[in-house]
Amino acid sequence: MKKIFLYGLVVTLFLSILQFNLSTALGAKINYKKIFENECEKCHGKDGKGTKRGKKLGVPNFNDGEWQDSVTDEQMINSITNGKKKMPAQKHKLSPEEIKAVVKFVRILAPKKRR
Ligand code: HEC
Repeated sequence: MKKIFLYGLVVTLFLSILQFNLSTALGAKINYKKIFENECEKCHGKDGKGTKRGKKLGVPNFNDGEWQDSVTDEQMINSITNGKKKMPAQKHKLSPEEIKAVVKFVRILAPKKRR
């Protein structure tokens, strides 16, 4: 009787660990598109070219391949985290993981390389 109880306890523990890992794995899936829509689109525009308001502040055109080549991911992470001139810092709004994810999205807005 005691053995069955112990066995049950082990199984329950195992299942709860499994569930915990699953939920953290799913939680880690960051929706960069949504972040961009909520936090960046008002200045940078849906397509990354910049809105009226953004252009007034001096946003770069994310569709410009030369601009894309001129910045590194690290530089973007730094600018988004700490801000750059008129670009507001995002470190109080977004986690480092979310900032990394949104940099990926900025790269997606780059033109396809034509060769
Ligand atoms: C209030 C308007 C505004 C918002 C909101 C905003 N930006 Fe910007 N962003 C700017 C401006 C202005 C610049 C140009 C800064 C400069 O170089 O003078 C800029 C520059 C950038 C750059 C280039 C940085 C570099 O190193 O040259 C990146 C990347 C960027 N923004 C990403 C984002 C992302 C991602 C978000 C959302 C999380 C965001 N921005 C939200 C205004 C904004």
